[in-house]
Order: sequence, then C-alpha cells, then structure tokens
Amino acid sequence: MSHQTITLNNGLALPSIGLGVLLSEGNDATAAVTSALQTGYRLIDTAAGYFNEREVGRGILESGVERSQIFLTTKLWMTDYGFDNTLRAFDTSIAKLGVDYLDLYMLHWPWPANWTQTIAAYKAAEHLLAEGRVRAIGVANFKPEHLTALMREAEIVPAVNQVELHPNFQQPDQIAAHKALGITTQAWSPIGGVYGWAGENGAVPPLQNETIRGIATAHGKTPAQVILRWHLQNGRSAIPKSVTPARIAENLDVYDFELTEADLAAIDGLDTGRRGAIDPDDATPEVIDLTIDAA
Ligand SMILES: NC(=O)c1ccc[n+]([C@@H]2O[C@H](COP(=O)([O-])OP(=O)(O)OC[C@H]3O[C@@H](n4cnc5c(N)ncnc54)[C@H](OP(=O)(O)O)[C@@H]3O)[C@@H](O)[C@H]2O)c1
Repeated sequence: MSHQTITLNNGLALPSIGLGVLLSEGNDATAAVTSALQTGYRLIDTAAGYFNEREVGRGILESGVERSQIFLTTKLWMTDYGFDNTLRAFDTSIAKLGVDYLDLYMLHWPWPANWTQTIAAYKAAEHLLAEGRVRAIGVANFKPEHLTALMREAEIVPAVNQVELHPNFQQPDQIAAHKALGITTQAWSPIGGVYGWAGENGAVPPLQNETIRGIATAHGKTPAQVILRWHLQNGRSAIPKSVTPARIAENLDVYDFELTEADLAAIDGLDTGRRGAIDPDDATPEVIDLTIDAA
C-alpha cells in the first residue's frame, strides 16, 4: 500500500511526492513550481542554498493554488547556524518566498565541527515551532550518530530527515534509526539525479538500470515511476526534481499501480552501499562554499 500523504510524528500530513528544485534556476524554477502545483503536487522542497526561494514563491503565486493547500519546505544553510542567526535566516527565507509561515523548516546538513551552533540552530527551529511560524521541523543528511547526539539536547524529535536515497544507495541502517525515533524518511535524489550533478561514481544510474527498466515495461510504467513507487511502498516521501512539465506530471502519476513483492525485492537487491554525493561528515561550509544573500 502507499498513500498520497504520510502522517508525521506531530500529526501533520506530508504529501508523499513533492517537487524538488535543486539546480532549477530563474524562470525555470518558477515555471516548474507553477506546473507542479497545477498538476496536483502539494509539496515543494527548496532551500536557502538553492538560491531560488524568490522564484519558488513566484511560482506558488502564479499557480493560483492557495497557500494553505501547499506543504512548503525550505532549509537553513550552515553558515546561518546559531540561535539568533537562524531566526534571522528564517525571516529572510520567508520574505524571499513571500509567505508568512513554513510547513517544514530543516537544518540542511549536520555540522559536527560546529556542533554547538548546530544545536543552537535546532533550538531556534524549536522556538519557531512553538511560535507557530513553522508547522514542523526537521533535518537533512543527519546520520544516525548525529540524530543520537541531537536527541541528547533537543526537545522535539525531527519530523523528517531528508537523506540521499535511491536504488543504488538504500541506507538500511539510516532508515532503521528513523523508525526507532519516529522520524519520516524523505528521499533526496530519489530517482538518482545525483549522478547528473556529482558524477557517476562508477555506478549505473538507476533510471538506466536493466532490472528497473524490466519492471517498468512489465507494469506499463516508466523507470522513474517504478522507483518512486518503490519509495512509496516503503513508506517514504520522495521529492523528484524536474523542470520538464511532462516529467513533472509523470512523477506524480504513481498512485495507480502496485509493485509486487518480487519487484520490491529486486530493487532492494540493487543497493551498492555507495553514496553518489558527499558524506555528510565532510559537507562543511568550506567544502560547499555558498553565500546566502539577504532578502
Ligand atoms: N537535502 C539535501 O542535501 C539535498 C541534496 C540533493 C537534493 N535534494 C532535494 O532533492 C531533490 C531531488 O534530487 P535531485 O534533484 O538531486 O535528483 P532527482 O530528483 O533524483 O533527479 C532529477 C534529475 O532527473 C531528471 N528527471 C526528472 N524526472 C524524470 C523522469 N520522469 N524521467 C527521466 N528523467 C527525469 C531531471 O531532469 P529535468 O529537470 O531536466 O527534467 C533531473 O536531471 C532536489 O531537487 C532537492 O529538492 C536535497
């Protein structure tokens, strides 16, 4: 079974499929968001570090879909960690987006070398939650040990952890850690887009995998739909990125078929255990050097 929404640990309904907008720029980002919302998407995933919050906000407006119908996520960049910095960065993000609240605010990466500021950022997110300015708080790229360290100091269990997850990198231990804590897993690069921007890492990208292509043919669906369906039947949310209207529509058209146990097992068998992107422990602001502009 899979559902169009997933109930988070605070009772909020998270749409299981959303639109990702990493590397969607300018008018392409606006058009992708408008197209997605008009096609029926209700979850949009951006970040301060994607440099398109303004364009995403414009896309929301141009779609004509009411703000209250949309689940909007943005993420806090590491250089804004710390309590006061986080509150300021939140104000900047919502001003760029043109909204007065967020549905989900995430810390974009753990920053182990600056853990005090990471915790202070999370505490600011808890404060924003208490004030009703965000409806849920979460993290991204937190490995199990980061979650354990976070929960020694945090009051609120993150509602979501967004991590690299696709057939080539399935992270069973990570998922088990989420289950133990009651955190919803959200897959980034859910169809393997990471191989397009980080290099192929010696792996066959999931969309080109023969096993997945065979399953797609058997169901009269596309490889992307099969992979998204695999995420859904595993109880995960996924946020495929596209700026192509036909693909945006294709990626949401995943609720009318069911993968068999054998299909699921075959996809489970594709795990290489190797990330396509950087290890979160190495993702410092020095390595991913971004400057977030003011609103
Ligand atoms: N938290 C984090 O650190 C983090 C890191 C990475 C990503 N993310 C989030 O996760 C989202 C998705 O990840 P991603 O962008 O890396 O990869 P992805 O969604 O797995 O793949 C996107 C790529 O696949 C193409 N594509 C989309 N639908 C397709 C389809 N049906 N058939 C064939 N190709 C298709 C897109 O091309 P076109 O656009 O040209 O159609 C794009 O090149 C991001 O946009 C972002 O919101 C978060």
